[in-house]
Amino acid sequence: MQGPRFPFRAALAAGLAVAALLPAARAQDTLKIGLVLPMTGQQATTGRQIDAAVKLYLAQNGATVAGRKIEVVLKDDASNPDQTRRLAQELVVNDKVVALAGFGITPSAMATAPIATQSKTPMVVMAAATSAITQASPFVVRTSFTLPQASVSIAEWAAKNGIKKAVTLVSDYAPGIDAERYFVDRFLLNGGTVPEKLRTPLRAPDFAPVLQKVRDLAPQALFVFLPSGQGAAFMKQFAERGLDKAGVRLIATGDVTDDDQLADMGDVALGVVTSHHYSAAHKSPANQKFVEAFRKANNGLRPNFMAVGGYDGMRVIVEGLKASKGAGGEALLAAMKGQIFESPRGPVLIDAQTRDIVQDIYIRKVEKVDGQLYNVEFDVQKGVKDPGKAR
Ligand code: PHB
Repeated sequence: MQGPRFPFRAALAAGLAVAALLPAARAQDTLKIGLVLPMTGQQATTGRQIDAAVKLYLAQNGATVAGRKIEVVLKDDASNPDQTRRLAQELVVNDKVVALAGFGITPSAMATAPIATQSKTPMVVMAAATSAITQASPFVVRTSFTLPQASVSIAEWAAKNGIKKAVTLVSDYAPGIDAERYFVDRFLLNGGTVPEKLRTPLRAPDFAPVLQKVRDLAPQALFVFLPSGQGAAFMKQFAERGLDKAGVRLIATGDVTDDDQLADMGDVALGVVTSHHYSAAHKSPANQKFVEAFRKANNGLRPNFMAVGGYDGMRVIVEGLKASKGAGGEALLAAMKGQIFESPRGPVLIDAQTRDIVQDIYIRKVEKVDGQLYNVEFDVQKGVKDPGKAR
């Protein structure tokens, strides 16, 4: 019975040869996602939060689509837009990523948009929040928020709550200019006055001179937008200059009372009213589960709104890839448009026309919950589209 054994052995050997090749074939077959984030420098908390959320989403939902492994290739752009563009180009050309994702600040997203257009690579903006970003390329999909979304709601709240005179203070770049414009327009429309519009530079801002001006102007309220990561330094100066004691009411977009830093801001933050799309204190089973899992995986770190942008962005990509059966380009883009789901922030929709996120905007007040500062939601505007698209 020698005969039959030989073909069996040959088949076995051939099988082994194929098996030996398999790891290489599989490696080629991975679905790569290029994640470009500021992991160092001024915006590093954004990078840390989003990276952790992307990892959590994949750990919870499996990292395989259509039999192919999803591989996230993380690159640090240190929020330098030239670096973002260069890294995105490499990810598209060398790594052949099916999607680009991340983008901690607007200039990074804007610098990368032409690459998404030229290479037809879907680009999921998980952090940056200037209205115009989605118009910079038909391949941009956003899972963060827009400054007009957040700023109009707090202007409405201020006007309805007896505030007639407000000064604005924003970071002097695109999202700050969006915040200033949409806050001021709505506040004036409701009969308010704005005696001064102040701005601070994005890099290494010094709040002392502008806060002195606010003191001199003595408005009822100061409206503030600063990018995630600058809130704690601002609050410290606000208290040191005695503005809280001088009766200037602080109102802001939720970027200022950022959950990443809020617990360490101290009592000066108590009572600050903000509007935003996400609070770690949002009361829903989905959010409770998200916050607990995020903390467990990250040494107790509280997720902020950047983390939710990353978590939902990963959801949009993975569900898109499932629908496109692993294809990238136009097929993946089409499968991202119109997705409806329950995020830890509440119900959301990726508007198929604008590719921007439609979501609830909450009015929140900083309060102590179990001895820790949180943004406690007390009012909501449902299903808010980016007001910036209407102009
Ligand atoms: C932005 O650059 O678009 C940006 C960054 C941080 C924020 C909001 C917007 O908190």
